[in-house]
Amino acid sequence: MNASSDRGNRGVVAVVGATGRQGTAVVRHLLQDGWHVRALTRNPSSAAALELHAQDAGVQRADTEDMRSLLSAFDGAYGVFNAQNPMTSSTDAEIRQGHNVAEAAARAGVKHVVYGAAGVGDYETGVGSWDSKLVVAQRFRELGLPLTVLRPMAFMELMTDKSYYPQLSTWHIMPKLMGPERPVGWLCLDDLGAIAARAFADPGKWVGKTLSLASDIQSMEQCRTLWEERTGRRPRAFPMPVSLFERFVGTDLTTMWRWLRNHQFDMSTQATREILPGALSVREWMSGFDKAGFDRLNHR
Ligand SMILES: NC(=O)c1ccc[n+]([C@@H]2O[C@H](COP(=O)([O-])OP(=O)(O)OC[C@H]3O[C@@H](n4cnc5c(N)ncnc54)[C@H](OP(=O)(O)O)[C@@H]3O)[C@@H](O)[C@H]2O)c1
Repeated sequence: MNASSDRGNRGVVAVVGATGRQGTAVVRHLLQDGWHVRALTRNPSSAAALELHAQDAGVQRADTEDMRSLLSAFDGAYGVFNAQNPMTSSTDAEIRQGHNVAEAAARAGVKHVVYGAAGVGDYETGVGSWDSKLVVAQRFRELGLPLTVLRPMAFMELMTDKSYYPQLSTWHIMPKLMGPERPVGWLCLDDLGAIAARAFADPGKWVGKTLSLASDIQSMEQCRTLWEERTGRRPRAFPMPVSLFERFVGTDLTTMWRWLRNHQFDMSTQATREILPGALSVREWMSGFDKAGFDRLNHR
């Protein structure tokens, strides 16, 4: 008997961005919880898509710029997890694609959307990749879709994942612009996946909610100390002039870090502890590092 025949009566959840950082964690947890997962990708033959297939997800081609492919992807689905990445496109593309997902989900009669968003509150900040998510979430609501918004502040993998643009800058430009002592709300990607799965599992509790997610609050300086305790050395910073960083990456992140330096906002681990009491602190997450490489996280 293979895993898919064990899945019982749970329905289908279509995952937008399934091959990405959030998406792979969401797929993993949905499969563990017995959902049938439709992992959406523009390229079903990519290594990441094949890996999802090997885990027993159904991989389907879909492009969020192509409404017809989305309608097919959401056909018969109970739920949709949605995430876009404006860093690899633009905030205009993020909004356009998010609107397409919302429209297709509404037309397909999806019963629950869990949206992997970002930001610090339900108000405009001038930070493009936060404000764009308010626009997308609003579209889901306007179309009457039952919605849970997940709003992590910073993923712990920013400290380690070399494919993150900010990984270049996490130990240098981010604290320089934000201030090394300013609090940061952290969540690891695996816990984001676990939280999304818990939201799908209990719609009565989580539909209509926006969860500001942080399992730990630590400044960059405190993270540096934790890193040093764990590894015996300081994390390697990549010194780069801010103007050069902006030339490569754009101004969204530098605007964000300056905003964080200059504004007060609510930050708490309460919502995260309520939905996932065992969510990892930064210290616990670092304890999963491979001592030799420091950039590999052991998934629980
Ligand atoms: N970095 C942080 O600390 C942090 C914190 C909170 C929130 N966030 C938010 O996280 C989001 C990024 O999530 P992520 O890191 O999971 O992104 P990611 O790793 O870049 O994954 C995005 C996925 O979207 C898919 N995709 C891209 N364009 C597509 C299209 N036109 N149609 C269908 N699929 C498409 C890609 O898959 P294929 O190539 O296989 O199609 C890709 O795997 C951003 O919105 C960011 O604001 C980040």
